[in-house]
Amino acid sequence: MFFHQISELLSDDMAGKRVCLRGWIYRRSVVGGKAFVRVRDSTGVIQVVVDEAVLGEELVKTLKDIGLEASVEACGTVTKQPRAPTGYEVVADSFRILGYSRDFPIKGGEGVEYLLDNRHLVIRSPKYTAIWKIKHTILDAGREWFKKDGWWEVTPPILTASACEGGATLFPVQYFEKQAYLSQSAQLYLEVMIFSLEKVWSLTPSFRAEQSRTRRHLAEYWHLEAEAAWYDMEDMMRVVENLVSHIVDRVLEERRRELDALGRNVDFLKTAVETPYPRVKYDEAIEILQKKGVDIKWGSDLGADEERLLTQEFDRPFFVTHFPKEVKSFYMKLDPEDPRVVLGFDLLAPEGYGEVVGGSQREDDYDKLLQRIIENGYNVDDYKWYLDLRKYGTVVHSGFGLGIERLLMWIAGLDHIRDAIPFPRFRGRIYP
Ligand code: 4AD
Ligand code: MG
Repeated sequence: MFFHQISELLSDDMAGKRVCLRGWIYRRSVVGGKAFVRVRDSTGVIQVVVDEAVLGEELVKTLKDIGLEASVEACGTVTKQPRAPTGYEVVADSFRILGYSRDFPIKGGEGVEYLLDNRHLVIRSPKYTAIWKIKHTILDAGREWFKKDGWWEVTPPILTASACEGGATLFPVQYFEKQAYLSQSAQLYLEVMIFSLEKVWSLTPSFRAEQSRTRRHLAEYWHLEAEAAWYDMEDMMRVVENLVSHIVDRVLEERRRELDALGRNVDFLKTAVETPYPRVKYDEAIEILQKKGVDIKWGSDLGADEERLLTQEFDRPFFVTHFPKEVKSFYMKLDPEDPRVVLGFDLLAPEGYGEVVGGSQREDDYDKLLQRIIENGYNVDDYKWYLDLRKYGTVVHSGFGLGIERLLMWIAGLDHIRDAIPFPRFRGRIYP
């Protein structure tokens, strides 16, 4: 038997044709001897009409009490029906219940923790289907951009011996007789790979033992990272804006239905297709914030609140650059014109979203890097291999990391990062 996907049935061309479909019961009601069963699959929802005059009283009675999310198979004639929720219905001449669903635990109105406990069932909804499809397109467009621009995809390790982004958020794991850590970032290994391939990128999970639960931090997230020999900071910022612009462009082109289903206002996304993005130095950012009445001094890091205020000044993504070295990682190159600051940049998404990308030019001088490692209190032996890269044919190089869920949050207009990943991990949550 041939089964159509539901989205294929929602068209005038299909009206009058006999089709078969299968999926899960999304809503149902019984009125005057007819069951109106809305069936959902990965592509859409359609109303199936089961008339007791055609298919018997018994079936209609069963459907009256059937649990949501029962799996079903139906055949019948597609009919244009302005009163049906998606404009068409299938008038069934056969209908089979494949898998019952007794007392489906999600009925609407449950609290956040209950929904997270039932995450494996909650993801069955048009909302999450739309989110996963947008994520798919983000990943696909990212890969497409790197390929077109001549970058090599590589596979860095997840089990690592030392920190990239500071000891505070490391997840320890028992590694035979030793202690190892889950990777916070592939960066240090991508820096190795540029000596072999020059322009490399990777997509890996990254792990951060974030102590507090926030709307934009996960303990496990998907990290798109790139590193290139011969690129300075400005070169790398151009890579970031072109990549993000391409991703947004493709999402707008291919996922308009999903954005609409999520109620996303796409005006802010359209501006993100145009490059270049504005660039603001940290110094200016501090001035802007002080003018807004924020009590912040030069030298402080920008937190979520400060970032949110800054985004009010822009209608598109923008870079903040040249942060004080104390608030950024040890590997960032000091600005030769002002060694108090680093050649680092963050890309902030508008509408209050804030940081989606962090990147920098890397310190390529052996002595300066060694000094920064010591200043940061790291064990020099752990970084011997990393220092070697500056000992044997060092080159100017830069890179960045983009948090896929952060980008998805902004593009899809989500309130909380937990909705950007099927199984969110954060403190206190590992099930399911
Ligand atoms: O700014 P971060 O910490 O930079 C790095 O890890 C660099 N080593 C990347 C590089 O240059 N190769 O992280 C990069 C991005 C952030 O901008 C943010 O989008 C995301 O990763 N990110 C998180 N996303 C979700 N949950 C968390 N806890 C995140 N921490 C960082
Ligand atoms: Mg950062």
